[in-house]
Amino acid sequence: MGDIFNSERIILREMERKDWKDVHQYASQDKVCQYQPWGPNSEQESKDFVEQVILDAEKDHRSRFVFAIILKEHGEMIGSGEINLRDSTNRVGEIAYIINPKYWKMGFATEVANLLISYGFKQLKLHRIFATCDPRNIGSLRVLEKVGMMKEGRIREHILIKDGWRDSLLYSVLEQEWNGN
Ligand SMILES: CC(C)(COP(=O)(O)OP(=O)(O)OC[C@H]1O[C@@H](n2cnc3c(N)ncnc32)[C@H](O)[C@@H]1OP(=O)(O)O)[C@@H](O)C(=O)NCCC(=O)NCCS
Repeated sequence: MGDIFNSERIILREMERKDWKDVHQYASQDKVCQYQPWGPNSEQESKDFVEQVILDAEKDHRSRFVFAIILKEHGEMIGSGEINLRDSTNRVGEIAYIINPKYWKMGFATEVANLLISYGFKQLKLHRIFATCDPRNIGSLRVLEKVGMMKEGRIREHILIKDGWRDSLLYSVLEQEWNGN
């Protein structure tokens, strides 16, 4: 609990109840949840999301780690990054991230993905970290490629989103590959 870590321009810290307003800034926008099963959020949905994140963080055997992304420069919360333990026996985790559109294409998601992967291997002692994204989500697949994840393939009709069944591209990185970075 209480994890905080940072890179050049951002800090990742545990999400707090007050963050719902900043979450709502982006989670209420169509273009942010275009490829997701959820959203655009009502205020209540953004509050419920943060409440659930806090409940999950308090669990005895915690498997969900959601961090608020804070800009070092002026302390603004510009998105969230998440790592989930998917299989503790085989030490597998999954990462995901969202950035407020005001800050798109400035390299922030790439910085966040790097921090999450590093947290997964160093703190959570994972062996394999994966991520999935909609094949149309060019920004997200560029992030996964830039951090050195390998494309494993395409999962057909993986998730039901607003406009029907959605395929996903599957990317991963292994402990020994990351340590070589
Ligand atoms: C996907 C997302 C996280 C990317 O965030 P970002 O901070 O803009 O990403 P980065 O700035 O690190 O971009 C990485 C690369 O992708 C490119 N890129 C980002 N968005 C792009 C877009 N919409 N179209 C084309 N290229 C894009 C950047 O230019 C950069 O490439 P470069 O280094 O070759 O110039 C952001 O668009 C977002 O939050 N989307 C909504 C939520 C979402 O889809 N999350 C991912 C779920 S799988």
